[in-house]
Amino acid sequence: MIGIFDSGSGGLGVLGKIRKRLPRADFVYLGDIKNAPYGERTREELGALTVLDIEKLLNEGVTKIISACNSVSASVMLPMLSILGVRPFDLVEMVGPTVKALRNEKRKILLLATPATVSSGIYRQGFAMIDKKIGEVAIPDLAGMIEFGASEKEMAEVIRKAIGEEKGFGVLLLGCTHYPLIKNIFEKVLQKLKVKAEIIDPAGFVAAEVVKTMAESGTGKTKFLITKESGLFRKRVAEMFGENGVEVEVI
Ligand code: DGL
Repeated sequence: MIGIFDSGSGGLGVLGKIRKRLPRADFVYLGDIKNAPYGERTREELGALTVLDIEKLLNEGVTKIISACNSVSASVMLPMLSILGVRPFDLVEMVGPTVKALRNEKRKILLLATPATVSSGIYRQGFAMIDKKIGEVAIPDLAGMIEFGASEKEMAEVIRKAIGEEKGFGVLLLGCTHYPLIKNIFEKVLQKLKVKAEIIDPAGFVAAEVVKTMAESGTGKTKFLITKESGLFRKRVAEMFGENGVEVEVI
């Protein structure tokens, strides 16, 4: 069984891509909504929350873990999770597969991510290792607005403010798993700013890595756990995975 976690709804898109490619694998999805948003937290807080998230998943019996949260990759020394008995190869996270997949990208990349991810410099360092320079913009509060349901107008304004001054990029890299949930708003803002750029959601790159390293065969079931009740999370799960009925439990 594979465990996947995020601060809330962001990882659902990643799970969706993985389930398409591994339809017979069993998953437990954990959304730590009680402690969301993660992207405004310190490294120390993120380290402690990650250990709690992974312990919860291990208690469910998972043997493999996917961190569907860029802010966690940015701030936590994931290989140190061997202290919980999680070996580095039993864990897939967001940043490595994304940098690897974009190694031949010729256009200028602009990363949009949470303050925790941008301030850690993890994408910058990752791309520097393959001799690439990227632009980076942190968007405070946007992941929380998505998680808890702000209006489209408010979110568009936050995005416009964040990328309004940026020029010359051909790829807009969504380095927070919450952002693809409002990809249509990013598209509208780019249109308004008259910017032609491809919006890239790394979920597919991560799914490809999971397929390579974690191929599993079970009954094709997914159990959803959340740390705080959320009608919006339930609605998203029903929309994305509702075809055979879903189980969402508050823990
Ligand atoms: N979805 C997560 C990420 O990719 C966390 C967003 C948040 O909770 O701030 O960074």
